Amino acid sequence: MNKYVVGKLDGKVALVTGSARGNGLGTARCFARYGAKVIMLDKLDEVFAAAEEFKAQGYDVCPIRMDITDPRQIKDAVSKGIELYGRIDVLVNNAGVSILSKFLETPQELIDLHFNVNLFGVMNLCAAVLPHMVKQNYGRIVNVSSVTGPYVSDEGEIIYGITKAGVIGLTKGLALEFAKHNITVNAICPGYIHTPMVDGAAKQSNPRNPQAVLDGIARTVPLGRLGTPDEIGELIAFLGSDESSYITGIDITIDGGAALPETNVIGIR
Ligand SMILES: NC(=O)c1ccc[n+]([C@@H]2O[C@H](COP(=O)([O-])OP(=O)(O)OC[C@H]3O[C@@H](n4cnc5c(N)ncnc54)[C@H](O)[C@@H]3O)[C@@H](O)[C@H]2O)c1
Repeated sequence: MNKYVVGKLDGKVALVTGSARGNGLGTARCFARYGAKVIMLDKLDEVFAAAEEFKAQGYDVCPIRMDITDPRQIKDAVSKGIELYGRIDVLVNNAGVSILSKFLETPQELIDLHFNVNLFGVMNLCAAVLPHMVKQNYGRIVNVSSVTGPYVSDEGEIIYGITKAGVIGLTKGLALEFAKHNITVNAICPGYIHTPMVDGAAKQSNPRNPQAVLDGIARTVPLGRLGTPDEIGELIAFLGSDESSYITGIDITIDGGAALPETNVIGIR
């Protein structure tokens, strides 16, 4: 059985959306490693296999297959988590979608999908979990936004960026309204992290050579590579722990310095 690295989340109950793969899986792994019990939500069946792997390592996790675009399923999943563990200390709104599309050619269904998952799904999860956090007089919410939207953009990411910018507005508003209940609400803004989502965007950008796209991204990042889901998990674990008790309403960029260069031509190399 694995031993916790440091039990900074010992005894906490965390709900992590989109935890079948990518950043959510990395986050669930970090939380479990730090001692949390983790309710793993995802619409993919893979969430069960991921949870089995964690259980085999001695971690306490509960997988639930559900769709966060359905408020009924959100309510049921939150009730199931409360029934099982008695409380939810940390909510990580990580599930998201990103499909590239030119602004004037984006079909309504694709716009709806981005808003329903990335923004309304996050709002509805907050609405379902916050009453429990208020009752406990304790809570941590971490929303996974993006640098795309609040800070930068790439072609084809306008709708995605609008939803991610919206998540920052939601984060700040909730942080203010729920501070009196000892609940903190923060957001993180990742740059490019190597996940199935980014593999998908690389394939959409260059179907014949997606690896060239990934290599191209890495060249633009001062740290020389894409980030990993575990690096995302570490930041979220900090914001979900008591170590971050005086931080609320902010967003933290985690991008390997990608937003730093003012140009790529000026300088002595
Ligand atoms: N990977 C990056 O470079 C990057 C950068 C910035 C922000 N993000 C954000 O990080 C989060 C995770 O992204 P990722 O790269 O791991 O993506 P991913 O596609 O690899 O994983 C997303 C997970 O969310 C789940 N999900 C999607 N829609 C859902 C729904 N309706 N109900 C339940 N589960 C659903 C998927 O099944 C999947 O398991 C997203 O919010 C994304 O916008 C990612």
